[in-house]
Amino acid sequence: MSLRLRLGVNIDHVATIRNARGGDHPDPVRAAQIVASVGGDGITAHLREDRRHIRDEDIARIQAATDLPLNLEMAATEEMLAIALRHHPHAACIVPEKREERTTEGGLDAAGLHNHLVPIVDRLKDAGIRVSLFIAPDERQLDAALRLGAPVVEFHTGEYAHAHLAGDGDATARELKRIADMAALASKNGIEPHAGHGLTYENVQPVAAIPQIAELNIGHYLIGEAVFTGLETAVRRMRDLMDAAR
Ligand code: PXP
Repeated sequence: MSLRLRLGVNIDHVATIRNARGGDHPDPVRAAQIVASVGGDGITAHLREDRRHIRDEDIARIQAATDLPLNLEMAATEEMLAIALRHHPHAACIVPEKREERTTEGGLDAAGLHNHLVPIVDRLKDAGIRVSLFIAPDERQLDAALRLGAPVVEFHTGEYAHAHLAGDGDATARELKRIADMAALASKNGIEPHAGHGLTYENVQPVAAIPQIAELNIGHYLIGEAVFTGLETAVRRMRDLMDAAR
């Protein structure tokens, strides 16, 4: 029996639409409440340096709106560390961040940034915040996460999603194997593996079937589908596909 797979819903792009008009609608808080009402396991939000979607004031509002755990995605900066320590989310996922990118395009270089990450990981952990590192499914990065003492890693599934979208069966299988192998290795070493990025109804099931993976974080596709079917239906459908794959 594998453990139950949690679904964290990334609500950033509700805020992206809100910010397109600069007002208050649609409110990511309402999205968080809907996710809670349909059995989502957590809310994920990325406070970017440029505040392009989630804004500072959203963090406390999201936390107050539901009992779901908040997974705050953050760059490894002093500014974000101070915000995380102030709001004390359930979890903090450290992601690489480049201003010019459209989304988080690759994993964190946990190996190369070891010395920079040590105090940030330690201070989050000391505050009782569950630290996760968003890394490529790569042994060197996993080893670095282990040395940093991160209790969780989230494997970036972007390469897998790209290969799947391109219809490249060999590359899809190769990427999936990398994720599965690294999830098994993480678990063996006492790190809880999560996964996310670019997951859709079409590509989620093989990842959801990896028994060690404890949580998927899914955003863009769910918010896109919500435009057509509503967020409740989109979250329920993703949940059903994940459960069926398990
Ligand atoms: N997990 C992390 C760490 C991310 O940075 C993102 C994208 O913001 C996601 C999951 C969700 O990716 P997507 O929006 O492509 O589903």
